[in-house]
This record gives sequence, structure tokens and C-alpha cells, in this order.
Amino acid sequence: YSLLSHNTFGIDVKAACFLEYRSVEELHELIARELITMPYLHIGGGSNLLFTKDYPGTVLHSLIGGIEVLSENDEEVLLRVGAGVQWDDFVSYCVEHDWYGVENLSLIPGEVGASAVQNIGAYGVEVKDLITSVETVNIRGEERVYSVDECGYAYRKSIFKQPEMKEVFITYVCFRLSKKESYTLDYGSIRQELENYPAVTLPVMRRVIIGIRESKLPDPKVTGNAGSFFMNPIVPRVQFEALQQEYPRIPFYELANGTVKIPAGWMIDQCGWKGKALGPAAVHDKQALVLVNRGGAKGSDVIALSDAVRASVRDKFGIDIHPEVNIV
Ligand code: EPU
Repeated sequence: YSLLSHNTFGIDVKAACFLEYRSVEELHELIARELITMPYLHIGGGSNLLFTKDYPGTVLHSLIGGIEVLSENDEEVLLRVGAGVQWDDFVSYCVEHDWYGVENLSLIPGEVGASAVQNIGAYGVEVKDLITSVETVNIRGEERVYSVDECGYAYRKSIFKQPEMKEVFITYVCFRLSKKESYTLDYGSIRQELENYPAVTLPVMRRVIIGIRESKLPDPKVTGNAGSFFMNPIVPRVQFEALQQEYPRIPFYELANGTVKIPAGWMIDQCGWKGKALGPAAVHDKQALVLVNRGGAKGSDVIALSDAVRASVRDKFGIDIHPEVNIV
């Protein structure tokens, strides 16, 4: 079974078996009938994956849909959303309904289930701040609901990313959105872009975010990629200050615990990698954090480029950067 249409990097690999299910009941049935052969891998939209070889076992994919209002009052709405819903369809639905909170996460590729694994974030918002609970079924057919506090959320991190949690499949994610007008405007060029509009509204915010993303990030339908290939490294304050001495223009975000997050894209750019290719894989010419498939790249071509980029960053800045993308 070809996985080409299930990974945005556009890597042409095969899975021995591919299974999709439309409901929790169908998932229980796959488990009960022992159709999920070992090893297995549950994917979402394949927008944060790099396949390096054919997958010898079962690839699972949720088609659970639906956006359901669990409860609401004048201030907020609680929603239950199927893991297989396209993330951006959910954002669009919320914007249409005047529910505040997810608009800065417009146009992020992938599905709702994966958003809760990855703790997707952009433009000053992380999905962990909107999630209330995550419903799951594990490989033995046991159901469990994780409250948001049990999910271990941090920057691009959750318990669902831990190797032993591979046996836990997300079926629904519950979110709390606000009905009170409020926006997150303090990231990058948002305020500047808003000057082109008479007023800030939810649809305007969505349009601004989409505009910023489209200007920097390649469309996976056109050019294979998986968004940010690397995580932004978090370093101790002293290490950052030493770097700042040497590179006074280094961008940074201060974190609550005295550490500092440095944009890997800036460092990669400073190393001269922006727009450079190594065989069929390249560093995107508008955002150096993104690696792209120039056509026909194999997973190993992307890894070779990633290794070369990491070595440059280590040599120049003394910092190890790590892939954000899941390498399979
Ligand atoms: N920069 C450069 N050159 C580059 C890229 C970035 O100088 O080639 C500088 C920018 O000028 C800016 C800073 O680095 O000062 C940060 O860049 P940007 O705002 O584009 O964000 P980022 O750190 O590169 C992160 C997320 C993105 C998210 C944006 C916006 C990670 C790994 N990536 O990127 O997430 O959209 O912030 O919030 O945290 C993704 O995960 O796939 C993703 C796209």
C-alpha cells in the first residue's frame, strides 16, 4: 500500500498494511479481530513525518469526524472534535461561529488527533491552552480520557510522543473556546499586517495568519515538506548571553523558567543554508527551518541534508538542533 498520499514530504514508500476506521466502534472491531499486525504506527495527516523506508507493519489512520458542542454559556463553548477532522477545517468552523482561541493556528496542516500529540503552536498560541481533555483507545481496546493536565504538555511535547504511548490512539479531542472577543497579537509581524485592515475581527485574524504563513511556508501540495523540520532549541540564559555578545542581532524568546528559545531558522540562515540544496533535498528559500523535497527525494536524502545542517549549526553556534519531524 503506497503511503505517498499520506505524507506531505511526498516520500514514495509502502506499508505492508494500511487500515482506516470511521468510529470508535470500528477501531474496537479492528482490535478485536486482531487485524492490526505488528509493528504498527498510527498517523494523522502525515504532515510531521519523514519515512526513510517501507513500513513493515500496519499503518493506522483515523477518519473519525464531527465537531460537537458539549456545552456552552455566554462566555465559552466546550467542543468535542473527531481525531480525523482536518485541523484547518476545525479552525475555519470556529472562526465562522465566532469562537475565539484557535485563529492563530490557521492553515496548520494535519488533523485534530495529531494536534494533541504534537501540541501544535504558532504565532503565540499553543493548542495545549485550548484543550480540556483527550479521549483514547489503546491497542488492547481499553478506553481512557486524559485531562489536559495529564498530557504533559510543553513546547512541541506531550506524553503521547513517548515511545510507550505508541499503543494509545486518540479518538476525540475536547477544546474550550471563548465567546468573548480576545486576540493574541504580539508575535512577529501580526500587528503590522493588521494595519491593512479597518478593524481586528476573527476572519481578519485568520486572513492575516494565512497570509503570513503563505509568504514563508511552502505549500505541501506543490513542494513536499513537513513544516518546521527542526525544533527551536532552548538554552540556559548564560549560554544565550554569550551568543548575544557575539551576535547582537540574534532573535530570541525568553521563557518563564529563565531559559531562552532561539529560532533554529535564524541560525541555519546565518550558516548560509537558506535556499541551498544537497541532492534532491533543499533548505526552503523563504524559511530556513523548513526542508523541502525538490522532487524524488528519499527519506535518506532529507536526513543527509538535515545532518549537514545540524553540523553547521553546531560548528558555528555550539548548539545541537534536533528534528521536530518524526523520522520513521
Ligand atoms: N528567521 C530568519 N531566517 C529564516 C527563518 C527565521 O532569520 O530563514 C528568523 C525570523 O526573522 C524570526 C525568527 O527567526 O526573527 C523566527 O522565525 P519565525 O517567526 O518564522 O518562526 P520559527 O521559529 O521559524 C516557529 C514554529 C512554526 C510556527 C512559527 C510561528 C517551531 C519549530 N516552529 O517557527 O511552526 O509557525 O514559529 O509561530 O517552533 C511547524 O511547527 O511546522 C511550524 C511551521
